[in-house]
Amino acid sequence: MRYIDFRSDTVTQPTPEMREAMFHAAVGDDVACDDPTVNQFEALGASILGKEKALFVASGTMGNLTAIMSQTHRGDEIIVGTNSHIFQEEVAGASVLAGVSVRTLSFPDDIPDVQMIKEAIRPDDIHAPATSLVCLENALRCGRIVTKETMREIYEMAHAHGLKVHVDGARIWNAAVAQNVDVKELAQYCDSITCCISKGLAAPVGAILCGESDFIARARKYRKMLGGGMRECGVLAAAGICALNHMRGRLHIDHENARYLAEQLSAFDCIDVELESVDINIVFFQLHRSREFCEALPQKLYKRGIKICNPIAGREGCFRLLTNNDVSRKDIDYLLQQLREIL
Ligand SMILES: Cc1ncc(COP(=O)(O)O)c(C=O)c1O
Repeated sequence: MRYIDFRSDTVTQPTPEMREAMFHAAVGDDVACDDPTVNQFEALGASILGKEKALFVASGTMGNLTAIMSQTHRGDEIIVGTNSHIFQEEVAGASVLAGVSVRTLSFPDDIPDVQMIKEAIRPDDIHAPATSLVCLENALRCGRIVTKETMREIYEMAHAHGLKVHVDGARIWNAAVAQNVDVKELAQYCDSITCCISKGLAAPVGAILCGESDFIARARKYRKMLGGGMRECGVLAAAGICALNHMRGRLHIDHENARYLAEQLSAFDCIDVELESVDINIVFFQLHRSREFCEALPQKLYKRGIKICNPIAGREGCFRLLTNNDVSRKDIDYLLQQLREIL
């Protein structure tokens, strides 16, 4: 049975072109920098992002952690948003493995605020850790984007204070499409950036970490330390090349589908949707029904061939849906029809 999967964009299946490219990929030992397909993928990624060099990493989490290890010294402090993936979902790797103190800031609507970041930079004081890195996220997990202008302000302020900026750009492709700019225009305002290929771009595995040559040389070593030195991984990079070349141009479809889904959901009298927060392919909705009803909803939909996640922990009745390459407008209409019947 085919399930329509709204749980994430990470669930996307590799496309037939990717599978074909993976089958035919020329490979070598990437730890020895000998894999021609990985080398091609990294060069392509660096040129698309406008950075000197790139490194293929196994996941967005590995990209962020490798970047933090490469941009800081143990005992430093980094600044992140309270709701950022780095703070919420990466198993405290920054603290445990990079050995940094993590200063969290609760930005209004999660949009990073230059003044708040500036005020959080530690003074040069014997008692304090040294703030060395600001980590931004774009697009944000809440479905909003950070504008190019905000990124510029933060980058300039951070550099004026001797700090580096890392961007968790798991969905930087979506952030660029949503504000109709080349992704380079966003990436110019950071020193390093992790960009996932396994989310909206539908590749099976991985992310690309980009930055200056000396940063990537350090990151390559930390990646090895973390067990991320892969061997004949050109089979995976081949899918990444397809993702970069062919999948970025269709992301606007996911965004249009998300907006359609959000608008249709907001027409239900027991559902509220924050329409203004739908910048990319992520839709949050609030279902005004009992806790038992909300908790049973995913199972009811599952029986009708639809996968959604459980309500968000700590936010009763709040659900998060994502559109992706494997979800069509017709699939969304099917979900709406099933919801209508269940409600
Ligand atoms: C904003 C953000 N950053 C980083 C990641 C981590 O990516 P991965 O699952 O490949 O480790 C995710 C994953 O969903 C994410 O949403």
